[in-house]
Amino acid sequence: METYKGETLFIQHFKNEEARSLDYYKKKMIGYESAKKALAMSQDDIINEVKKSNLRGRGGAGFPTGTKWGFIPKQSAKPKYLVCNADESEPGTFKDRDIMRYTPHTLIEGMIIGGFAIGSNVGYIYIRGEYTREFTLLNEAIDEAYKAGYLGKNILGTQFSFDLTVHRGAGAYICGEETGLLNSLEGKRGEPRVKPPFPAQSGAFAGPTIVNNVETLASIPFIIQKGGEWFSKLSKIEKSGGTRLLGVSGHVKKPGLYELPAGGVTLRQLIYDYCGGILNDRKLKAVIPGGSSAPVLTADEIDVIYDIEPLQKIGTMMGSAAVMVVSEDYCMVKLIQRITKFYAHESCGQCTPCREGCKWMEDILHRIEHGHGREQDLALLLSIADNINGKTLCALGDAAAGPVSSFVKKFRGDFEAHIRGKKCPNA
Ligand SMILES: Cc1cc2nc3c(=O)[nH]c(=O)nc-3n(C[C@H](O)[C@H](O)[C@H](O)COP(=O)(O)O)c2cc1C
Repeated sequence: METYKGETLFIQHFKNEEARSLDYYKKKMIGYESAKKALAMSQDDIINEVKKSNLRGRGGAGFPTGTKWGFIPKQSAKPKYLVCNADESEPGTFKDRDIMRYTPHTLIEGMIIGGFAIGSNVGYIYIRGEYTREFTLLNEAIDEAYKAGYLGKNILGTQFSFDLTVHRGAGAYICGEETGLLNSLEGKRGEPRVKPPFPAQSGAFAGPTIVNNVETLASIPFIIQKGGEWFSKLSKIEKSGGTRLLGVSGHVKKPGLYELPAGGVTLRQLIYDYCGGILNDRKLKAVIPGGSSAPVLTADEIDVIYDIEPLQKIGTMMGSAAVMVVSEDYCMVKLIQRITKFYAHESCGQCTPCREGCKWMEDILHRIEHGHGREQDLALLLSIADNINGKTLCALGDAAAGPVSSFVKKFRGDFEAHIRGKKCPNA
């Protein structure tokens, strides 16, 4: 079995309960030296370094971080905000949790640098409600950082002040969508906003705001420490810098988190060489490559480089880098029914196509799985998915529709067997 021996940022510190202390961070990691360095740089130089690094957002859309930071207006009558998206609600995703649990100071330092670069004195970490342990641990790390003078007024003796607060969500997937998150942070219903204006123009409390994922922000201290070019060269693919934390789950022998260079492996290598292949040596049936909202791939499609553009080219996405592996004996109808049930439940209900369409798809999939499907149901499913896709305020609709279309198109035979046989063949 393959193990990666090259450079990694995070994973060597995971599973080590001592790693989260400031003491460890100073002795073994960056120890706020990057914040010190950044506070002596110009804001433009920091943003340029991040641009050079080719860091792409780790939350799902893969937007270049330096470019996003550059959208913040230099002058603003309202305060600016830096918000960390720690909602980690996409099914299959479990990377941000370990960053907060084992290396929380990388995130805090990343936020200090990000706050300085965009001219913000206030940061929020919006953490999913279920992460009670990480909420406590993050607050302990923040307390340590305040006591040591890395947070608060006149950080490290400079003119720059930055306050950081952790805000807990209450278990809604939609609050991972950045504008739903901002509404929730403001104490409103977690409903996505109409865009434009985008958060960089009008975000939290109507001030210019950057929302970034945990892994994105936690990568910043490494970029400032060793340079954008160094970070960009960690990767094996153009346009995507650094390493990636990949969360592999499902029917593999060695599920878990892997940290590999961006674009460093194909899906086949990840599944067979790193994760030891399929449980009980069964055949591979399908792979959901980027969290449950990513369109599914068949076993014939896994010789693709695992990164943003190569996956886009074959009609799916890297999303939150959560790879779910499905073996030959699992029912694809049951699987997509379960996924769709999640999206139907989590739809905030603002947009009719998503509110109604997700529930309809769930109902139809339920009846197919339970032997009451009709011949015309497959065309109906594709038509509903098409009427949701791209027709809603946020991407939750697309997240529900894309998987349904891809399952029906790529595993049509499985659906037909349910409809004709009037039961689940696996039942
Ligand atoms: C329905 C929905 C749920 C999302 N959930 C998350 C999430 O849990 N965590 C996250 O970082 N981004 C999530 N996103 C993406 C965010 O809207 C946003 O793009 C991201 O936080 C930006 O950070 P990045 O540029 O660092 O990737 C979600 C998007 C949608 C449409």
